[in-house]
Amino acid sequence: MARAIRFDEYGGVDVLRVADVPRPAPGPGQVLVEVRAAGINPGEASIRQGFLHERWPATFPSGQGSDFAGVVAGLGDGVEEIAVGDEVMGFVHTRSSHAEYVVAEASDVTPRPDGVSWEAAGALFVAGTTAYAAVAAVCAREGDTVVVSGAAGGVGSLAVQLALLAGAKVIGLAGPANHAWLHEMGALPVAYGEGVLERIKEAAPEGVHAFVDTFGSGYVELALHLGIHPGRIDTIIDFEAAAKYNVKTEGNTAAASAGVLRELSLLVGKGLLEVPIARVYPLDEVREAYRELERRHTRGKIVLRP
Ligand SMILES: NC(=O)c1ccc[n+]([C@@H]2O[C@H](COP(=O)([O-])OP(=O)(O)OC[C@H]3O[C@@H](n4cnc5c(N)ncnc54)[C@H](OP(=O)(O)O)[C@@H]3O)[C@@H](O)[C@H]2O)c1
Repeated sequence: MARAIRFDEYGGVDVLRVADVPRPAPGPGQVLVEVRAAGINPGEASIRQGFLHERWPATFPSGQGSDFAGVVAGLGDGVEEIAVGDEVMGFVHTRSSHAEYVVAEASDVTPRPDGVSWEAAGALFVAGTTAYAAVAAVCAREGDTVVVSGAAGGVGSLAVQLALLAGAKVIGLAGPANHAWLHEMGALPVAYGEGVLERIKEAAPEGVHAFVDTFGSGYVELALHLGIHPGRIDTIIDFEAAAKYNVKTEGNTAAASAGVLRELSLLVGKGLLEVPIARVYPLDEVREAYRELERRHTRGKIVLRP
């Protein structure tokens, strides 16, 4: 048997429980991984609350989690390039990584590089590939000024750094508690809230060329008011505004591959990309972990450690 997160109905964090379930077995082309760290994401909270029922319904009892890093503990038929004992990071689309053991497609894992902590490795997939896709979608490059909303969140903290690595000047919208961190990264922090449009204009007298929105609630309109071309605005959350104004919505699915995860992990290993880890919770404290996430002021990632 092995421990895994389960919930039996839609609801608040109280529906989450740690269950003893049979240890999963890898099928052909799959690997069994003993999970060392698994990131949590707002989308999981939305699914668990039933907000995405039309698009991504849950079936009960439901597991949870896409991100993970851990040690290979078993191989399915036909897996040759991975060995038991390998340290890997990866993802599943089966809502099952918040557990002691997860079964993943062998093609969806990649080695954990030197210099990448278990926490960073286990938290990188959803946020990292989403940030990668969003920054690519707005074509951030040298000479550009790019604004990122939710700049210190799971996706935003990585989008800021990827846009900086692309050579852009980056303005990060964040609460005051995150301004020093954004400065340290090389970005210009700007407070959100009333007057944000003027503050951005002041910070970017040269004009703003691109916008990555990771928060929603009017940032697409703000970007348009800044005079940015819709083709250089990407929102990962405000799909209504995206449809209305014809802006981009590239996110996780546009870059969800072991190849992109590998590329990002190598940047982390070289010290060029930081995955800020806000807090690590044991599996037993999964409810508290989501309570913290759902307050929506996390810097970087919250991680479960089975
Ligand atoms: N489409 C996709 O593929 C995709 C993939 C991943 C995530 N998402 C979605 O993208 C969103 C962000 O995900 P995440 O993991 O980055 O979330 P997160 O880590 O919870 O991000 C929270 C961030 O929101 C910021 N924030 C709070 N109030 C704000 C406001 N009024 N204006 C601007 N920023 C504010 C916080 O900043 P301060 O702490 O500085 O206040 C914090 O840094 C979620 O809604 C998630 O569901 C979509």
